[in-house]
Order: sequence, then structure tokens, then C-alpha cells
Amino acid sequence: MFSKYALLILPSSNRVYADSSIALTGAEVELFGQVALGGRLGEIRQELIGGVPYVTFGVDGGLSGREVALLSNVSTAYALFAVEGELLRPVELSRLDRFDDDLITIQKYQGKTNEQFTKLLVNVTLLASEFGREVLDRKLAVLDPLCGRGTTLNQALMYGWDAAGLDVDLKDFEAYAAFIQTWLKRKRIKHQAQLGPVRRDRRIVARRLTITLAAEKDDYKAGVTQQLDVVNADTKAAAEFFRPQSFHLVVADAPYGVRHGAHSATAGLARSPLDLLRSAVPGWARLLKPGGALGISWNTFVARRESAAVVLADAGLEVMDYGPYLRLAHRVDQAINRDILVARKVVNPAKRAAVSAVDAARLAADSDGE
Ligand SMILES: C[S@@+](CC[C@H](N)C(=O)[O-])C[C@H]1O[C@@H](n2cnc3c(N)ncnc32)[C@H](O)[C@@H]1O
Repeated sequence: MFSKYALLILPSSNRVYADSSIALTGAEVELFGQVALGGRLGEIRQELIGGVPYVTFGVDGGLSGREVALLSNVSTAYALFAVEGELLRPVELSRLDRFDDDLITIQKYQGKTNEQFTKLLVNVTLLASEFGREVLDRKLAVLDPLCGRGTTLNQALMYGWDAAGLDVDLKDFEAYAAFIQTWLKRKRIKHQAQLGPVRRDRRIVARRLTITLAAEKDDYKAGVTQQLDVVNADTKAAAEFFRPQSFHLVVADAPYGVRHGAHSATAGLARSPLDLLRSAVPGWARLLKPGGALGISWNTFVARRESAAVVLADAGLEVMDYGPYLRLAHRVDQAINRDILVARKVVNPAKRAAVSAVDAARLAADSDGE
């Protein structure tokens, strides 16, 4: 039997996305459906119920507990209902969230990437990777190579993942280092932090904050921990600070090319984010694991989507240019029209073919022996 569900979105999304919140949620739900739920969601629509907009969808046989747990992480999800005739029956959401949500909401500063948007960016990147279906079962590692004061890092920690970041702005680095250490202490979360210079040839080349933490004391004792690793350096040198192929996801909100108070110096530097992307994306791509994905958001008023896509393709990544991935652009304000590009690092096809040839030979040898 086909069961219908209605997803109510967080009221604050309307403020963040103005008219686009329902359409963006529709695209995100479609991606969750295609990837994490193996194509089981159908008839995804925007509907008014009692005068309130919902994203509705249908599922053959109803949602399993695991499917509800996956959909609970849609970035705008506020409440989920099963539609039964004219009535809505609440379905309890169970988010991945490991910590109180003030980890993500307390910090307020000019130039902050909105937290709901950051979660959308993380989710659509995750769903392009080979790891989208495993999100309930394993810890991933995310790098934000333009991390500012850590909105992506905090979202990754919230999901229970390892988080790494890099930003050239010393004020941002210091503000984030102060915030996260104070927050961990105030919440009595067991952790160990190290903050200090990175030296090469007796020269200081960067500053680095590394923290080992765990939401539960017992996990910390057992060594089941999360790592946070933040470097204050130019992102073009990202590959000097992190091991190749160590991240499942790379997620970044690129400079918007508009002046943001405290960010005026760096915004001026990156009038067009394309130059920055051209010089940095090849290094970021090297840090991705095969099967991993890279997601960037940027202001289309300063760089065209096609141009940004070429930069990603030139770095050997496969750009996701179909269906819901083409419906993520939205207006932020008069100066910013934001879009998202996601691309994945395809597992080397030659290697894959070689592995299957070995498997085939083994199978043949096995059946010969029978
Ligand atoms: C749109 S902001 C990201 C804000 C971040 N997501 C947050 O919520 O705090 C872009 C960031 O890119 C950083 N940036 C610009 N050029 C850079 C470079 N060459 N290397 C490292 N970071 C850079 C800026 O300092 C800024 O923090």
C-alpha cells in the first residue's frame, strides 16, 4: 500500500530562503529518496495543507524506522506526519544530532554561512558520495577548506563526524578556537585540546587547533572519539596540512565577492572566487577519498555556474549536473544569488576493472576446483 507523508519545514527557513525554502526542501528530499532510500520515495510535491506549505511524498509500504532516521536529517525538517485521510499523524523524528543545537546557533557574526544552508550543503554533498547510505552506521570525515568560524565544522561534529578546517583569516581562526573550547568546557564535554604554531624549517607556517572529544564520557575513555582539526593558513596549501585521500567530503562556502564588514580584506582578495577555486580545487580533490564528494556554494553574480563546473571537472571530478542538483540555486539578497555545485571523485575505473578481473579469475578457479 502506498503511504503518503507530509514534511513541515522549520519556520526559520522562510526567513533564510524567502520564497525558495519549499522548493529547496523538495530537491533535498528527492536526493535523500534517490540515494539514501534507494529510490523509494515517489510523488514528491509542494502542497498546502490547512493553508500551510508542506513537502509531501509517497512510499510503498510506508517508511521503515531506518528511513525515518535518514529523512530526519533533511536540513529544514521540523516535523513529519503520515497523511491519513484528512488527518495528520505525527511521526517522531530521530536526528543524528550528538550535541545541543546551540553548538551551531550561538555564534553570530557577519559573514557567517547560515546554519540551515550549511546543513543543506553538507547533505547534498554527502548524497553525491558513495557514503550517503552509510550515514547511520559509520563516522565520516569532512574538510571545510574555507571554514571561517566553523559553521560546517560544527555541523560535522553534530553528525558525530570528524571535522577539519582551514581559513587564512587569523581573526576567524582565533574566534573559532575560543568559541569551541569555551563551549566544550561549559557543556562539560570530555575533550583534550592542543593549540599552537606549525613550524617548517624553523619558520612558523601556520597555527593549528586539534581537539579530541566524545559526546559521552565512556566513549572518550574507550577511545571512541571525534577529531576536530583547524588550521590557520592559505587554502591553496591545504595538501601540506592533511594526508591525501583522508576525507569523505569536502564542503565549502566560497567568498561571495561582496563586502562583509570584518571580511572586507579577504572579500577584496577574492572578488571572483573562480581564481581562488582554480588554484585550490586540485589540492582539495587530492584530499578526497575515492568515492568522496566535494560541494561548494558561491555567488553566481560573480562567477557563472558553467565556469565553476569547468574548474571542478579540470580537477578530475565528476560534476553532478542533473535533476535536483540543478534546482539548488536561490536568491539570498540583492547582491547574492547563491548556487551549489557538487562533484564526486570517481573510483578509478581502470582499478575497478582490474579488481573485477581478479574476482572473475578467482571465481573461475573456484568453480574449476568443484
Ligand atoms: C563565505 S566565507 C565562509 C564562512 C564560513 N562558512 C562560516 O560560516 O564561518 C569564506 C571564507 O573564505 C576564507 N578565505 C578566502 N580566501 C582564502 C584563502 N586563500 N585561504 C583560506 N581561506 C580563505 C575567508 O577568510 C572566509 O572566512
